[in-house]
Amino acid sequence: MQEKTQGRGVWSTKAGFILAAAGSAIGLGNIWRFPYVTGQNGGAAFVLIYILCVICIGLPVMIAELSIGRRSQLNPVGAFRKLAPGSPWVAVGMIGVATGIGILSYYSVVAGWTVGYFFKTVAGDFSRFITSDTSGQIFNSFVRNPTAAIGFLFLFLVLTAAVVMGGVAKGIERWSRILMPALFILLILLTIRSVTLPNAGEGLSFYLKPDFSKITAGTIGKALGQALFSLSLGMGAMITYGSYIARKENIPVAAGYVCLFDTLIAIIAGLMTFPALFAMGLRPDASGPGLVFVLLPTIFAKMPGGFIFGAGFFLLLTLAALTSTISLLEVAVSYMVDEWKWKRLRAVVLMSGLAFIIGIPSALSQGASQWLSSLPLVHLSFLDLANVLLGNYSLTVGAFLIAIFVAYKWGIKSTRQEIEAEGNVFHFGRIWSFLIRFICPVAILIIFIYIIITGDFF
Ligand code: TRP
Repeated sequence: MQEKTQGRGVWSTKAGFILAAAGSAIGLGNIWRFPYVTGQNGGAAFVLIYILCVICIGLPVMIAELSIGRRSQLNPVGAFRKLAPGSPWVAVGMIGVATGIGILSYYSVVAGWTVGYFFKTVAGDFSRFITSDTSGQIFNSFVRNPTAAIGFLFLFLVLTAAVVMGGVAKGIERWSRILMPALFILLILLTIRSVTLPNAGEGLSFYLKPDFSKITAGTIGKALGQALFSLSLGMGAMITYGSYIARKENIPVAAGYVCLFDTLIAIIAGLMTFPALFAMGLRPDASGPGLVFVLLPTIFAKMPGGFIFGAGFFLLLTLAALTSTISLLEVAVSYMVDEWKWKRLRAVVLMSGLAFIIGIPSALSQGASQWLSSLPLVHLSFLDLANVLLGNYSLTVGAFLIAIFVAYKWGIKSTRQEIEAEGNVFHFGRIWSFLIRFICPVAILIIFIYIIITGDFF
């Protein structure tokens, strides 16, 4: 990472930036969240809507966020203040910072399970004869144990804090370079095993043959939420990362690659999940957040050398989660450092400490506490509720406001100037401007109205 005159880092190469942004995007969202949300929302039809959301809303908003970041060279709050001085737009940045810490809190709980599963695999807890029943029991007793759940949450946040302390670009850029390709290869191997299991066909047709009768307002809202979550959009992570891109880089091209890689990994994760899920006799809508943790050990058991694949997979997944939580924590930390002039160390310790405290109810919500496991009225666990409110709704509102900001406040012209700096070509610039001015805000508004009318909130 080279230092620039302002003292802000710059990604050392274009590939470095794409890897780092892909590192933020690719994580548990693709491998843990995408499969279970797809399972709960009807399969193939959901996947189609998801892809549509990535192309028509995710990609244009990512271009918008990166441009805001590179122009302002600041954290999300500072960026809105600089581009629209004296206006209430800074609030969008502040909501983003808060949302980031909230997502970090429960995301780290699940990342902690991944660390735990790495140790369990190495310790030989999963026998070659494991069934979906026994695997489910192992998962339940693991997440029901409060000491383990809170302990691994703590451990994972310490890891995240340690990397963020050292400055973002250095750590992430180097790690992502090895990590992403390795994860990709392991995923492909698991997918091959999954699609060759007996009865894989049933899972494939659930995943690939759309049945639009299963689509409701809530389903569409969840597909959009999942797209934003998976691409790390709607709360300023990409504004922060954009502030580290050099001006000679082509933002839309970089954003295109990130969306492509992220979507590819999610699609493959689904291809790994559903054939095995049906082969093991599980129901796609019944498992919830435990889905991949219950399922994966049963796939490893059916592979020669499965122990090695299993340990390797959970290790890589832990690291992929880490490159994502880094971006969540970095948003709040860069805000404290830039705007409040805090020392980096202090910001990191206090913000990760805060995420730990808010993470505790999520950690206890998978059986350790009855009350947190099924909250009154909504009948969701605390973790599920946080995941819907922050990971879907808050990001969707954020993406809506960012689109409005770029289209009507900062302006299409200024954004294009930033993108076309230093002679860069903005391919599809007119399509982008159409999407960001009309499609993004209107589509999001319609989805919200539709959800409110049908009352299909969760
Ligand atoms: N996108 C990451 C994943 O799929 C999670 C993530 C990292 C995130 N940074 C974010 C989600 C910012 C929303 C906003 O695992």
